[in-house]
Amino acid sequence: MGSFDGKSVIVTGGAKGIGRGICLAFTEAGAGVVCADVDQDAGNAIAAETANHPGTLRFENADVTTAEACEKLVAAARDAFGGLDVICNNVGIQPTNSYLRAHEMPEEMWDRIQDVNLKSAFLLFKAGYSALKERGGGVVINTASVQGLQSAPMVSAYAATKGGILSLTQQLALDYAVDNIRVLAVNPGAIDTPLLAEAIEASDEDPGKMRQHMADIHPIGRMGQPEDIGRAVRFMASDEASFMTGSWVNVDGGLMAKGAWA
Ligand SMILES: NC(=O)c1ccc[n+]([C@@H]2O[C@H](COP(=O)([O-])OP(=O)(O)OC[C@H]3O[C@@H](n4cnc5c(N)ncnc54)[C@H](O)[C@@H]3O)[C@@H](O)[C@H]2O)c1
Repeated sequence: MGSFDGKSVIVTGGAKGIGRGICLAFTEAGAGVVCADVDQDAGNAIAAETANHPGTLRFENADVTTAEACEKLVAAARDAFGGLDVICNNVGIQPTNSYLRAHEMPEEMWDRIQDVNLKSAFLLFKAGYSALKERGGGVVINTASVQGLQSAPMVSAYAATKGGILSLTQQLALDYAVDNIRVLAVNPGAIDTPLLAEAIEASDEDPGKMRQHMADIHPIGRMGQPEDIGRAVRFMASDEASFMTGSWVNVDGGLMAKGAWA
């Protein structure tokens, strides 16, 4: 898997779902991880779960939509692990009451989705840049989505953030290659997380049938698990991926390979 001994990683939205999978992948490989999340109970749980891992996890209760919170996370990485090597801008929300056509969406809801899913990535990169540079470079991995490439009805705010994250990934890669900072994105397919469970619960369909449908739409015949994304992100952050920047990897069970007509 490659060793991350001595490496320092920040993961946003890290206490549950895909972020949790990313945190575990890094602590299993020896990294120091600052796990940022608004869910204190889930933060306590992942801190306990990783206590015997080769790496160390420090939970920080943080809403990552402010510059101040992001600066505190970088300070925590310096304090706990002596610096910063990897930023995983993973956090994202898709509130179940946000499945609306654009003209029906309250402006505050649009703004909140942009702030959490897109602006937080800008803020944390801005806060962490100097720390990455001090280590001679680093890696930024943004969790985007297959919905940044192709969309579904009624997700205008969410899809716009995911397209935005892919553009930001390319832009940062271009502007910071000179500092030896690689920037990549991962596009998950449907991953079995609390976010997905909430969406299934909120739909009018039978939850069991809906889950089966979500599995069946992937050519590989199942939904993804958070560790599928965690392992891919860990590879992308490793030296094995040293020639990769400014691009994204679909970890989607083949979903994006399939045409709508198939
Ligand atoms: N689950 C999927 O099928 C799927 C597919 C494609 C992309 N994604 C993306 O993956 C990422 C993670 O999704 P998930 O399914 O694991 O979601 P999740 O809701 O299961 O977990 C997200 C975590 O982020 C935390 N969080 C929410 N707002 C926060 C804030 N302001 N500051 C800090 N933490 C906050 C939550 O408490 C939670 O622990 C998101 O960017 C999402 O858009 C998910």
